[in-house]
Amino acid sequence: MKRQGNKVGVIGTGFVGATTAYTLTLSGLVSDLVLVDKDKEKALGEAMDLNHGAAFYPSMNVMAGEYSDLKGSDVVIIAAGANQKPGETRMDLAHKNAAIFREIVPEVVRNAPDAVLLVVTNPVDVLTDVTMEVSGLPFGRVLGSGTVLDTSRLRHLISVHTHIDARNIHTYVLGEHGDSEVVAMSLTRLAGMDVHTFCEKCGRCDMDLGTALADQIESKVKNAAYEIIARKGATYYAVALAVRRIVEAILRDEKAILTVSGPVKGIFGMPNVCLSLPAVVGGEGIERFVPVDLAKDELEALCRSAEAIDKVIKSL
Ligand code: 2OP
Repeated sequence: MKRQGNKVGVIGTGFVGATTAYTLTLSGLVSDLVLVDKDKEKALGEAMDLNHGAAFYPSMNVMAGEYSDLKGSDVVIIAAGANQKPGETRMDLAHKNAAIFREIVPEVVRNAPDAVLLVVTNPVDVLTDVTMEVSGLPFGRVLGSGTVLDTSRLRHLISVHTHIDARNIHTYVLGEHGDSEVVAMSLTRLAGMDVHTFCEKCGRCDMDLGTALADQIESKVKNAAYEIIARKGATYYAVALAVRRIVEAILRDEKAILTVSGPVKGIFGMPNVCLSLPAVVGGEGIERFVPVDLAKDELEALCRSAEAIDKVIKSL
C-alpha cells in the first residue's frame, strides 16, 4: 500500500543503488521506497538495514519488492548493471548493460507507467537513449543523471581554489558523462563575475583560474572516477547525492537547472543522442534544455562528444 506522499523505486541495489536509497531515506522527500534487485536477498538485506535506522530519519516505508511493487511510483531510478572496473571506460559497459536494460525497462513501464525514469547506470547517456527507445515514453519522462555529478566535481574544485562555497559557484560540465565530456569554463560565474574577473578582483593568490589551473581542474574532473576506482574500486557517495538532488527537483516540481542527460535533437546541429546540457527539471522530468552561449572550442568539443555517443549507440 502506498502512503500519502511520494513513491520512488530503485532498480539495482549495488553500491550506487543502495547508497542512493540511503540518501533518499535521509532526505525526507520520499514516503515509500521500493528496492528491486535480481538478487532478492541483497535487496532485502539493504531494506532491512535501512529500516533499522527508522528512528533517525523522517517517517517512511522502505521495502524490498518485485517489479509489481513499483505500482504508483512517481520516480523509478535504474542503477542496475555492471560497473566500471579499473582500466575500463564507461563506454566499455555499453553492450552488457544495454542488454540488461532491454529486460528491465519493459517491466518498469508496465508496472509504473506514470513514473519519471531516471537512468544512472553507465554509460548513462547511451542507456538513457536505450530506455527512451524501449519505453516509448515522451520527451522528458526519461532522463539520465548525466553530468550532474561531474558539475559538482567541478564546483568543488573551483571552490577549493577560490575559497567560495561550492553552492555559490555556477558552472556546467556538458556532453557525455565520460571521457569526451566538456568543461564549459566560459559559463562559470561567481557572484555574477566570470572567473578571470573574479580572480583579478580577489587577488588572494597569483593563479588566475582562467589559465593553466583551469586545465588542471578540467583534467581532474574528467579523471575523477578513474582516480577513485583505482583506490576504492567504485564511486557511489557523490553520484548518490547527485541522484538525490535530481529526485528532489522532480518531486518538488522545482524547475531547477541541472545538467541531466536527455535527447538533444536539433540543438547545435548535434546527432539525435542523449547527453547533458543545462536543463529545466520539474515534475515531468526534463521540461526543456536551456540555450547556452558556448565558446567556439567548447561547442566543437560538445559536437565531438555527441558524435562519440552516437557511434556507440549505432554499434548496439
Ligand atoms: C563516476 O563518474 C563511475 O560514472 C561514475 O563516478
